[in-house]
Amino acid sequence: MTNSDLSLRLARRADAAVLANMSRRLIEYGLQWKWTAKRVEASIRAANVNVLVARINDRIVGFAIMRYGDDDAHLDLLAVAPAYQRLGIARQLLRWLEKCALVAGIFKVELEVRANNDGARLFYERMGYRGLTHLPGYYQGTEAALRMSRDLSCNSGSSLRET
Ligand SMILES: CC(C)(COP(=O)(O)OP(=O)(O)OC[C@H]1O[C@@H](n2cnc3c(N)ncnc32)[C@H](O)[C@@H]1OP(=O)(O)O)[C@@H](O)C(=O)NCCC(=O)NCCS
Repeated sequence: MTNSDLSLRLARRADAAVLANMSRRLIEYGLQWKWTAKRVEASIRAANVNVLVARINDRIVGFAIMRYGDDDAHLDLLAVAPAYQRLGIARQLLRWLEKCALVAGIFKVELEVRANNDGARLFYERMGYRGLTHLPGYYQGTEAALRMSRDLSCNSGSSLRET
């Protein structure tokens, strides 16, 4: 994959079913499916949410959803299809959404990740996120989460340029 093969763009409503299925398969496995197509579509339509899609040759290979509040932003979902992992796609998705936060004057991003998802935790740590709180039973009362956060005002210049 070269950089010119990959394109990032905001999702369209027609993408909702594909993104919801990716969430069920890659993120919500073993849990009750919460991010249904209807919910993803509501995010695509919401004014304070960016649903960003990564495509290669017109195929959706990854996506991320970030909600922007008054003081901070929250990363709701992020996934890259297994065949396209470790190519820097999640890094590009996340940096794009972080730049939007900065433009809006938001300097803090928070997220929750399944506590046993070591790969994702290591990814977020590499991206500058730090673990804050262990949240037992966060997912449907059965599974723990780790809440992580990044202060975008710290070294934002260098790390946001690396994409
Ligand atoms: C976590 C996830 C989004 C990472 O996507 P990705 O496109 O493979 O990540 P990148 O290629 O941008 O990784 C950037 C860096 O993060 C780190 N990293 C990423 N995945 C990692 C893993 N599984 N183990 C250790 N480090 C990892 C590496 O340092 C990597 O750089 P390198 O490949 O040069 O060593 C992807 O593995 C995924 O979709 N997992 C399933 C869904 C999920 O867990 N989502 C997150 C919770 S919502």
